[in-house]
Amino acid sequence: MSNIGSYEQRVTDFSWDIAKEVLNWKDDELLNIGHMCSDRICDRGDGEKTALIWEGFGDKKATYTFNDLRVLSNGFAAKLQELGLEPGDRICIFMDKIPSLYFSFVGVLKMGGVAQPLFSAFGDDSLEVRLASAGTKAILTTQKHVKKVRKIIDNLPDLKHVIVVEGNPDKMRDGETFFDVETAEKFEDFECCKTSADSPSVLHYTSGTTGQPKGAQHAHNTVFGQILTSSWVLDLQDKDIYWCTADPGWVTGTSYGIIGPWALGITQCVLDSGFTSARWYKFMQDNKVTVWYSAPTAIRSLMRDGKELIEQHDLSSLRHLCSVGEPLNAEAVVWSEEVFGKPFLDTFWQTETGSMMVTNYPGMKVKPGSMGKPFPGITAAVLDLKTMEPLTEPGEVGLLAFRPGWPAMFREYRNQHDVYRSKFIGASDDATPDECRLNTDLWYASGDRASIDSDGYYWFVGRDDDVINTGGHLVGPFEIESALIEHEAIAEAAVVGKPDEVNMEVVKAFVTLNKGVDPDDMLELNIMNFIRKSLSPLAMPQEIEYMEKLPKTRSGKILRRYLRALEWGEDVGDLSTLENDD
Ligand code: WT7
Repeated sequence: MSNIGSYEQRVTDFSWDIAKEVLNWKDDELLNIGHMCSDRICDRGDGEKTALIWEGFGDKKATYTFNDLRVLSNGFAAKLQELGLEPGDRICIFMDKIPSLYFSFVGVLKMGGVAQPLFSAFGDDSLEVRLASAGTKAILTTQKHVKKVRKIIDNLPDLKHVIVVEGNPDKMRDGETFFDVETAEKFEDFECCKTSADSPSVLHYTSGTTGQPKGAQHAHNTVFGQILTSSWVLDLQDKDIYWCTADPGWVTGTSYGIIGPWALGITQCVLDSGFTSARWYKFMQDNKVTVWYSAPTAIRSLMRDGKELIEQHDLSSLRHLCSVGEPLNAEAVVWSEEVFGKPFLDTFWQTETGSMMVTNYPGMKVKPGSMGKPFPGITAAVLDLKTMEPLTEPGEVGLLAFRPGWPAMFREYRNQHDVYRSKFIGASDDATPDECRLNTDLWYASGDRASIDSDGYYWFVGRDDDVINTGGHLVGPFEIESALIEHEAIAEAAVVGKPDEVNMEVVKAFVTLNKGVDPDDMLELNIMNFIRKSLSPLAMPQEIEYMEKLPKTRSGKILRRYLRALEWGEDVGDLSTLENDD
């Protein structure tokens, strides 16, 4: 019998209060993420435990204990307070993955500020849009990146403080503050702001298909969702050396690259140097990384560089691998079992959800290519596109949706309440963000399409706007892409619909080839046939375009909508997160 008939996936009697038990949390404690990531770990006796192992370009290395993290984050908190910044003020953190990024993030939260991390490779236009939208009061940056701030500061009346945390103090301009926390006076004591569950904490900007980037606002309560998933899915344990490869400019880099692990008192590693497979393997070998959280785009690059490199390193410390950000192709799961002796476990979530929603976790049978099952406490469903009711037949494709109310859920899109409301199926026209968020009769629509199999496993199909309609049949790009990369010549693939007089749309594939492969007509035919046989004639690409590399967002997602817009001659929309070579 199918067990998706009942879409209620909640574990019986599950309560998110289990997170408090995991943390040993007393209800009269200070609910402030900054405090929980540093002071609280010292209070429990782990002040001398390593909090951060950091490596940068060249041979630069540093390690910091939880006590260092406590004192250095105090330094930022005190400095911001001294400058007149107040609880609730948005404070942007705009720097490479240097140690001060991590200390200042914790420090901003300690003084009650809203941490607004932005990816340091953003250009001045992208920065301006996000600072203007947030009404940001202060920006913490480095000499390397302050030029971009100088270009736009005159357009940003709310931006009162530019604080440079690394570089040459003599190069500062009038009105800028230089503050190097590691050489500044040490603050042994700082009284943390008395935030509560609903106080705003982190503001992340996320790009939509149309319109301006949206600022997803989170609150301090998110920590309970993040620690429980860090514990049960990432399986973080006291002795672990954990590496989350994401940049804190994206939500993975804060939820699971700062908050979840540090609130549990786990040692984290950070590598602030460009990607090469060899550098990554060496980093894991040298630091004896045990738990590794990464993304499909990186995994595919590692696959492309072959297993000889892996054999040259001692990676025996690795015990648990997870992935997020994009669909994880079955091929990647099988490969990781072969080369690391364990599969990458896929996890699905979003900037808006704040913590993992559909996951594979230890002890669960992995079905390569599936995202896993809803995390306990998450009620998920796949909804019929017309009726918006949960589908009950295994394999039917619909909208992936969640019942509101989990702890890490975003509180609003800054200044865009209509857009927030539009994410909730069934919300009344005048519902406030809180009325949407707390109404468990509504569905929060993820914007993704998926299906559920007869074992209750979830399978990703594509973003709403990526699904291809060819001759009235809907085909998901992910399935075709996964099949394409199983072809021996292909490294990466992106599939979109292109206009067609007869079929409305037909499948077009953009591919990058493995090293040493030269494209010719035979190869094209060969790939087409390969897909026709392994999937269906409908899924067979009618055209294949070879690329040196695929267009991706800076967080590593293939930008299908960009390729699609080019095919359709449409406006390509907001491209501020497009990766380029600057
Ligand atoms: C979108 C959210 C929160 C992690 C970083 C991305 C896609 C994410 C998966 C997965 C298939 C995935 C979805 C989702 N996505 N994880 N495991 N399988 N798709 O956060 O930038 O807000 O993007 O990323 O399309 O809606 P984000």
